[in-house]
Amino acid sequence: MSQTSTAGERDSHRAISGKTTVVGLIGWPVSHSISPPMHNAAFAALGLDWCYVPLPVPPERIGAAVAGLPALGLRGANVTVPHKQAVMPYLDRLTDAAQAIGAVNTIAVEADGSLLGDNTDAPGFIADLRSHGVDPAGQRILVLGAGGSARAVVYGLAAAGAASITIANRTLDRAQALVAALQPQMAACPLHVCRHADGLPVVAGQADLIVNCTSLGMTPNTETSPWPDGLPFRAGQVVYDLVYNPPQTRLLQQAAQSGARAIGGLGMLIWQGAIAFERWTGAPPPIQPMTDAVTAIFAARG
Ligand SMILES: NC(=O)c1ccc[n+]([C@@H]2O[C@H](COP(=O)([O-])OP(=O)(O)OC[C@H]3O[C@@H](n4cnc5c(N)ncnc54)[C@H](OP(=O)(O)O)[C@@H]3O)[C@@H](O)[C@H]2O)c1
Repeated sequence: MSQTSTAGERDSHRAISGKTTVVGLIGWPVSHSISPPMHNAAFAALGLDWCYVPLPVPPERIGAAVAGLPALGLRGANVTVPHKQAVMPYLDRLTDAAQAIGAVNTIAVEADGSLLGDNTDAPGFIADLRSHGVDPAGQRILVLGAGGSARAVVYGLAAAGAASITIANRTLDRAQALVAALQPQMAACPLHVCRHADGLPVVAGQADLIVNCTSLGMTPNTETSPWPDGLPFRAGQVVYDLVYNPPQTRLLQQAAQSGARAIGGLGMLIWQGAIAFERWTGAPPPIQPMTDAVTAIFAARG
């Protein structure tokens, strides 16, 4: 247990017994993830005899690890880098979201032992946007990046009724592949591409909402930003940065300085976990204790 664990989390660990229901996080590596303390705080807050453990799985063992979930009596697992696509062949069923996005971040072990793969990044992102009073319905949206998180974000935004989405990526082919994969299922929302970052001056002003799905700005490269210096934001634009480490990114500072509304990605992290929590436990997720646990970890990290 790290020095940043909360009192509730330590209590839940003290109570582990043969009756405790176990879920976990499959990744490689997973030692620095904040999902275990976040979920354990939620279990403690609801008095559930559950615990959430890191499950470090090297790539060559991923099939055996997934097949072992029901055998070991686990109720489910989250899946993170680098396994979000690799787990898919080992699952019995996929939700529409996981199928369309092409990645699984949540596995549920069903009552009959079968495995359901879901993706809670998309609804987690939309839930956090809405918790900030932002409804993507009818909005023109600019997404920076075309990697795994961009697929979930574009799917979520289009499903939530966005008017149009432009995907700006350094590697144009990757943005075009994203559009080719999602546009047929998202006919009501036109998807466009442009090159990041030289295409941004043309499209930036038209966007109501700008979402950063690149890794620019993430620790340790905190001085970087996906937004070109000197390119203004429009007053009233909303800028959402998926990067949550650090919570205050250079992009968010640029946005706030030019009068846009800046929202960081910690809330998405909490909501994607909260939706997985509800899928496994059937209980409404306790958002505030989860938020408190995550906030305490970042405060301790300084
Ligand atoms: N808040 C949350 O809950 C949440 C959830 C998921 C992810 N995230 C964060 O979102 C970020 C992206 O994650 P991901 O899984 O989508 O990563 P990914 O699949 O590796 O995609 C990375 C993206 O960043 C772009 N990029 C990387 N370096 C760049 C550079 N120097 N200049 C321009 N573009 C660059 C890549 O462009 P190319 O295609 O040209 O390489 C690609 O579009 C990470 O920081 C991750 O922590 C947050």
